[in-house]
Amino acid sequence: MMKVQICIIGGGPSGLMLSQLLHLQGIDTIVLEKYPREHVLGRIRAGVLEHGFAELMREAQCGERMDREGEIHRGFDIAHDGRLDRVDLYKYSGGNSVIVYGQTELTRDLYDARDRLGGKVLHNAEDVALHELMSDAPYVTYRIGDMTDRIDCQFVIGADGFHGISRNSIPSGVLREYEKIYPFGWLGVLSQTKPVSPELIYVKHARGFALCSLRSQVLSRYYIQVPLTDSIEDWPDEAFWAELKCRLPEAVAARLITGPSIEKSIAPLRSYVAEPMRYGRLFLAGDAAHIFPPTGARGLNSAASDIYYLYHAMIAHYKKGDDSELDGYSQKALARIWKAQRFSWWMTMLLHRFPDRVAYEDRLQEAELAYLFSSETAMRLLAENYVGLPF
Ligand code: FAD
Ligand code: DHB
Repeated sequence: MMKVQICIIGGGPSGLMLSQLLHLQGIDTIVLEKYPREHVLGRIRAGVLEHGFAELMREAQCGERMDREGEIHRGFDIAHDGRLDRVDLYKYSGGNSVIVYGQTELTRDLYDARDRLGGKVLHNAEDVALHELMSDAPYVTYRIGDMTDRIDCQFVIGADGFHGISRNSIPSGVLREYEKIYPFGWLGVLSQTKPVSPELIYVKHARGFALCSLRSQVLSRYYIQVPLTDSIEDWPDEAFWAELKCRLPEAVAARLITGPSIEKSIAPLRSYVAEPMRYGRLFLAGDAAHIFPPTGARGLNSAASDIYYLYHAMIAHYKKGDDSELDGYSQKALARIWKAQRFSWWMTMLLHRFPDRVAYEDRLQEAELAYLFSSETAMRLLAENYVGLPF
C-alpha cells in the first residue's frame, strides 16, 4: 500500500503537467498510466499551442526546448474556391500568436522533467479503479503484471483521456453528457518532407476538408476529411497524396513535396462535454471530460486551462486551507470549455463537407466564409478564439 496526497490517473500531457507543477510546489503525486512510455509518445495528435499553454510549460520548468524549437505563427491561410485568404492572427487578436510544437515533443519534455525530479509515474497500470470518492479518504487500486496494489490519497485526478475509466466513476444520475458526432474523420499523415507552406493552410473543398500543417521545416503533417467507414488500409501513400493535391489550390498543389508516410491514422470527429467535472474527491481534467473536433486546435489547449485551475485550487487548499477554488473548479473550467466548444464546432461547420446536407445549408456555409473575409469584426472573432481565450 502507498500513501500520496494526490493520485493522478493518466500519463498524457494533462496528468504529467499537473504532476510536475504540483511537485514543484511540494505537493506529492503519483501518476498511473495504462501504457508504456513509448506508446504514449507515439501519439502524434496536437501541433498548435496557445501561449497560455506555453506559459504553463515554462512554469513547469519544461519550456526550454519548446521555446528553442517551437515556431511562432502569426497567421494561417484558408483555401477556398481555388484561392488562399490569410487570417492575420497577430493583427486581429491584438498582437497574439500561436506556437507550433508537437504533442510528442512536449510529452517527452514533461516525462524528462518528471524523471529529473524523481517523479513517480507507474506505467502498464491496468484495472485501475477508484474507491470511496465521496469520503475524505479515497483510494485507488490497480494491477501491474500480477502485482496488485492500493494507493491511499486525498484527491484523485481523472486525466485518463476520453477512453479512460475515471469519468465512469461518476454515477449516471449525477453525470450529464453532451455529445455531437460528425459524419467523418480526419486521416492524418506525418512525413519527413519540407512543408508545402511555412504557415498552416485550412482547406475547404467540394471533395472535403484538408489541412496542411507541420511540426518543423523538415517535418510535415497533413490531414484529409474521410468517411467514417474508411480505414488506413484504404489509403496507401499514393492515394493520400493524390487526394490531398486534388483539394489544394493549383499553385499550392504544384509545390507539394511528397514522401513516405512515417505515421498514418484516422481520428473520428466528435464534440463532447461531461458535467460536472468534480464528484466528491475526484476531479476530471482534459480529454477525460471533453473532446473537441480537431479543426480549431482546442483539445490540448483546453486541457491546459483545466490544469491551470486545478493547480491553483490545490495550492490554495494545501497552502492556505482555502477550498473555494476546488469548490468552484467545475463551473469555472466548464465556462471556458463551452466557449472553446462553440468555436471548434463553428470552425468544423465552416470548413467541412457535410454529405447529408441540403443545398441551402451549403450556400449558408459559403456565405459564412464570404462574410469572414469581408468583415474585420468577423476576423477578430476568429483570431481571438484561435489564439485562445484568457484563462
Ligand atoms: P490523453 O492524451 O488522451 O492522455 C490520457 C492518458 O491516460 C493516456 O496516456 C492513456 O493511455 C491513459 N489512460 C487511459 N485509460 C487509462 C486507465 N484506465 N488507466 C490509466 N491510464 C489510462 N489539441 C490542441 O490543442 N491542438 C491541436 O493542434 C490538436 N490537434 C489534434 C489532432 C488530432 C488528430 C487529434 C486526435 C487531437 C488533437 N488535439 C489537439 C487534441 C489533443 O491531442 C488532446 O486534447 C490531448 O491529447 C489531451 O491530453 P490528455 O492528457 O487530457 O489526454
Ligand atoms: C494540427 C491539428 C489541428 O487540429 C489543427 O487545428 C492544427 C494543426 C496538427 O496536428 O498539426
